[in-house]
Amino acid sequence: MKVDGKSYRTIWLNEDGWSVEIIDQTKLPHRFETVTLRNVEDAATAIRDMLVRGAPLIGATAAYGVALAMREDPFDDALDRAYETLHATRPTAINLKWALDGMRATLRNRPHGERVALAYRRAAEICEEDVAINASIGDHGLALIRAAAARKTDGAPVNVLTHCNAGWLATVDWGTATAPIYKAHGQGIPVHVWVDETRPRNQGAALTAFELGHHGVPHTVIPDNTGGHLMQHGMVDLCITGTDRTTATGDVCNKIGTYLKALAAHDNDVPFYVALPSPTIDFTVADGVKEIPIEQRAGDEVAKMTGKTEDGRIETVSIVADGSPVANYAFDVTPARLVTGLITERGVVEPNREAIARTFPERVED
Ligand code: MRU
Repeated sequence: MKVDGKSYRTIWLNEDGWSVEIIDQTKLPHRFETVTLRNVEDAATAIRDMLVRGAPLIGATAAYGVALAMREDPFDDALDRAYETLHATRPTAINLKWALDGMRATLRNRPHGERVALAYRRAAEICEEDVAINASIGDHGLALIRAAAARKTDGAPVNVLTHCNAGWLATVDWGTATAPIYKAHGQGIPVHVWVDETRPRNQGAALTAFELGHHGVPHTVIPDNTGGHLMQHGMVDLCITGTDRTTATGDVCNKIGTYLKALAAHDNDVPFYVALPSPTIDFTVADGVKEIPIEQRAGDEVAKMTGKTEDGRIETVSIVADGSPVANYAFDVTPARLVTGLITERGVVEPNREAIARTFPERVED
């Protein structure tokens, strides 16, 4: 997608043919900076400190992290160490394990001399697959937005509410929740996005708004607690969010606060869709609330805010009373009963075990 008119992906191989470039998302929206990853530690730090974030991009970065590790040492011990180091970075998004399992399966039992090339090839494939999957999610989601537009009598825009950043910055390109929005915008369907700010790290205000703004998509940033009010007043046609892990039964784990939006949507008969690539489905988990590990992050993310001052300096300030404890649960789980449909690369799927298994039969044995 575009930044200042120039096309970018979120991760790419440099011209040297081995180092990996990423956009440092901790600097957005006020600074656009890229960072070079030169070894597996760089990749792990980028994921842990959220220079890259979003389930699909975490997976893609981990894949390149393994390739960087193989470049330094192609033997089994190094492969296992790289797997463990990268796997320990963040616990909730299942795309991380999916990508690492895929890399290990590709490299195990292959001659050491072939492993570097194989690792880079598989990492590049994961990136290309992600772009194709998201484009396809966009096409299936587009049909939902087109249908919502057809129900409008006055040519008014379709109002989509989204939470966190499940945009192109969270993937390699297109995004998941935003792909249908970009496709609709590209086809001239009037669309307007309510962007939840998404405390505490403000992925909506900082990242989704940045993306949509640079792409010319009309949008409005709202405090996280505004969605219910908008839905009560008929100002939201549909919600589309992303997910970090969806169970075999259709429970959806996503950024903290997603569950509350789903409850409000349910109460107001607003369709609540979740867009996801199939690597986000964890077929080993049946009960999302009980089984999915929820990341807890540093209290400073809640107690402090970073922003731009009027004279252009980036500053961090404290916003909580000195000494008050804070809690920082990064994700929550929306039960399948509150989800209208899962927008996948193979179509819109009902959030239940039978429909998901029917759509992805080759994954059920995972
Ligand atoms: O903590 P983050 O910023 O990595 O959380 C990201 C989300 O919750 C996204 O909605 C999710 O990864 C889907 S991204 C297509």
